[in-house]
Amino acid sequence: MGLPMNVVILAAGQGKRMHSALPKVLHPVAGQPMLGRVIETARRLVAGGSAGSPDAARIIIVHGHGGEQVRAALEAPDLHWVEQNPQRGTGHALQQAVPLLELAQPTLVLYGDVPLTRVETLQGLVAQAVGTLAVLTVTLADPRGYGRIVREAGRVKRIVEERDASQAERAITEVNTGILVAPTASLVRWLRDLRNDNAQGEYYLTDVIAMAVAEGLVVATCQPRDAWETAGVNSRAQLAELERIAQRVTADALLEQGVTLADPARFDVRGELVCGRDVSIDVNCVFEGVVRLADNVVVGAHCVLRNVQVGAGSRIEPFSHLDDAVVGEACRIGPYARLRPGTVLDRDVHVGNFVEVKASRVGAGSKANHLAYVGDSIVGARVNIGAGTITCNYDGVNKHRTVIEDDAFIGSDTQLVAPVRVGRGATIGAGTTLTRDAPPDQLTVSRARQTTIPGWKRPAKTPKKG
Ligand code: UD1
Ligand code: CA
Repeated sequence: MGLPMNVVILAAGQGKRMHSALPKVLHPVAGQPMLGRVIETARRLVAGGSAGSPDAARIIIVHGHGGEQVRAALEAPDLHWVEQNPQRGTGHALQQAVPLLELAQPTLVLYGDVPLTRVETLQGLVAQAVGTLAVLTVTLADPRGYGRIVREAGRVKRIVEERDASQAERAITEVNTGILVAPTASLVRWLRDLRNDNAQGEYYLTDVIAMAVAEGLVVATCQPRDAWETAGVNSRAQLAELERIAQRVTADALLEQGVTLADPARFDVRGELVCGRDVSIDVNCVFEGVVRLADNVVVGAHCVLRNVQVGAGSRIEPFSHLDDAVVGEACRIGPYARLRPGTVLDRDVHVGNFVEVKASRVGAGSKANHLAYVGDSIVGARVNIGAGTITCNYDGVNKHRTVIEDDAFIGSDTQLVAPVRVGRGATIGAGTTLTRDAPPDQLTVSRARQTTIPGWKRPAKTPKKG
């Protein structure tokens, strides 16, 4: 069952400290823009773990600087966008969303630059907020820069911003994460009454806490399991820190499932990595998009795999780059292999060092072990492609297809000038430039005849004069 609620994601801040042309919330963490992650979290929350979000839920994004770019990057039918211009504080930001709020359901406030909050944490917070306000807080050894949670006899009284806080208040280590849930009708009223008579001249969302207390509400709080769930990004250094945390969380989950990682600290998943049993991954591999590794796959050091499927028992040797490719079972790829988009390898295929394959199907048991380019080709089963073989697929205008039938043997240094077909069982002599189809089961070779000039002498060096 889904949660009927408003989720407002504040994302109007400029992010000056990133020193970037890219709006801050579009900077990626683990391959996904920060704001995209927050939107995903919101979607999973309102969907209550089930598929699809309920009609009652609303996800509203308050954008400012670079708004059009942000919107273009993340636009989706379930999102509502409002602009805050100029930016006069978090309370002012939320005021912009008021016309879109469904009054009968609670409102959750998230930040677009706080990308790693767990859905379970938010579920816990929402559960606390029945008929009242609930604030997600965290206790930090160094609370500097944050709003402090001021309590009296254990009860939350108000939140004071660092710059408005007294010496005693600054010593408080329980801080405001900014994430809160509020009853919407009351929230709208409180927002209307916000004033900006504070150190920053801003409309503070945090002032609604004291307003709720004044109305007799008992403000609830809860804390995340890990402090990094509420860490925000203001600089590249903080972005890099959260990146490592996100990677460590992914690595730990894979280790837990039984995947071998040579070093969980030298491993990056920028998307989704799905592993079967007894998968082993050496150091410094990068996985992008959706990568599926079946049982017993071994990935050597320094490989980059992006939108790839690898069949059971295959080995990807070090320094290989695989992009949009399907690798069958029991294959050997690399070291130093490159599989480009549209490559589909059947089982037991070997693609060796400095071999590039693009938009080609390669049949079972075929091998291209050294220094070759196979592009726009259909290669049958048990084909041997010798070192230095090149499919000349491009005439400068159009791409053409090469077909190599089952059991063909392509000698080293062959150029297959496409469109061209090598028949079943054909042998192509080394050094051939094949411009017409080669018939099955025969030797085809194009090569200047080898001659030896009898009595030839190497020229002697002319002695220098003087
Ligand atoms: C705010 C809280 C503070 C809390 C801290 C946690 C207020 C007044 N203070 O601090 O108690 O400890 O977050 O990080 O709420 N934003 C807008 N429009 C604005 C201002 C901010 O959309 O006009 C967005 C930012 O993009 C960001 C979030 O709100 O995502 C928080 O803004 P930021 O300036 O980082 O937080 P503080 O105001 O310093
Ligand atoms: Ca601020």
